[in-house]
Amino acid sequence: MSTLSNPIAVYAKRRAAIGRALIKAGGGVAVLPTAPESPRNRDSDFPYRHDSYFYYLTGFSEPGAWLVIEARGKAVKSTLFCRPKDLEREIWDGIRLGPEAAPAQLGVDAAFSLDTLDAQMPELLANQPAVWFPFATHKGLETQVDGWLGQVRARVRLGAECPQSQHDLCKPLDEMRLVKDAHEIGILRRAGAISAGAHVRAMQTSSAMLRNGVPGGLREYHLEAELLHEFRRHGSEFPAYTGIVAAGANACVLHYRAGNAELKAGQLCLIDAGCELEGYASDITRTFPADGRFSPAQRILYDIVQASQEAAIAATRPGNRFIDPHNAATRVLVEGMLDTGLLAKAKHGSVDDVLESGAYRQFYMHRTGHWMGMDVHDCGDYTEPGSQPQPEKDALGQMVMRKPSRILKAGMVLTIEPGLYVRPAKGVPKKFWDIGIRIEDDALVTGQGCELMTRGVPVKAGEIEALMRA
Ligand code: GLY
Ligand code: MN
Ligand code: MN
Repeated sequence: MSTLSNPIAVYAKRRAAIGRALIKAGGGVAVLPTAPESPRNRDSDFPYRHDSYFYYLTGFSEPGAWLVIEARGKAVKSTLFCRPKDLEREIWDGIRLGPEAAPAQLGVDAAFSLDTLDAQMPELLANQPAVWFPFATHKGLETQVDGWLGQVRARVRLGAECPQSQHDLCKPLDEMRLVKDAHEIGILRRAGAISAGAHVRAMQTSSAMLRNGVPGGLREYHLEAELLHEFRRHGSEFPAYTGIVAAGANACVLHYRAGNAELKAGQLCLIDAGCELEGYASDITRTFPADGRFSPAQRILYDIVQASQEAAIAATRPGNRFIDPHNAATRVLVEGMLDTGLLAKAKHGSVDDVLESGAYRQFYMHRTGHWMGMDVHDCGDYTEPGSQPQPEKDALGQMVMRKPSRILKAGMVLTIEPGLYVRPAKGVPKKFWDIGIRIEDDALVTGQGCELMTRGVPVKAGEIEALMRA
């Protein structure tokens, strides 16, 4: 059985809510498997991670489980299929909840052994108007559902009716998951605090190891080890994503991971790392001088990125759109690019000219944030549902038709992560070459603005230096 927290009422409430959403859309049966186990080689598996949608509705983290929700008239019934008790297997793999204990433990209405799924599904689907299942997240699921529907059709002459339509269950679930409930916010805050502590530890280790010396030099993996130690020591199950620990120029590789490069005094280190806690992610980036002292050129660019993040934070409030923090950050970054000569004013013109031409993408080529929740890049529409497409310039400057950006509302969680990445290039002042900086925090949209859940690690240059001296 899972060690994750499992307040039955939270999950029952979510199942009731999705049931109501299905009824509103005409009713039917929802079918949702958890994630499969993933073999690594021979009899070794990758660490198991449940499916986020499934866990969202059950709080159950064992593999080999399915949730079926029948939503019809006013009634919503949930049935779990899970692995049966098996004393022999449990000696090797651990205790299984089993269908007998599942209703009391998870609050589902009924539970059966997974072995009976194929036999029961045609019964559950017969005489229902529609079937709902996740369309693009489970390989082979469509074929499996087709097989069950085929069995229902074979019984039509006996009076059974086959569901007439199929819908993507992710659509209504994505909308629900986008706005976090109190239970989720509590966990996200704790995950953010653990990850912030890990960044503090990595910063302090970096300056201490450089001060005291270490055989073979300070390496990126030394700091990754500190992060992982801190995550796990506070109960995190695993990192929320593959972390980045990038020495110097490596920070300009956006998807770099922690390697074995040496971190030297005078270089910056960019760390993008966050833990997963009880099924919820955190996602923090800090960039700091390996020895605790920014050089003048590093400090100039750092302060620009930090100011751009402040502008984005100020734009993260209910009623604003998802794109507003990005636009606010980009404007400040562009001002900085022109002030520092990263972009020559004579060639590129004014801030508005650069925003229009997109020349800033040489140094800032990603978006300023993404939704975050159970998944680090969480589900949820980035455009406003129900709105009409309008003409807009895409990233390459082409006119495209797009729905307007999503309106932020309290309970949404997004990251705010501007950066500057300066690769050596003609016309770029040499003192800035190979500097890569990103600052990332996780923001909960509140009634008035936003709450940063990851500020247990400092962000201002002076505060980082003070911490690393301590
Ligand atoms: N760590 C993944 C991201 O920042 O998007
Ligand atoms: Mn991120
Ligand atoms: Mn990140």
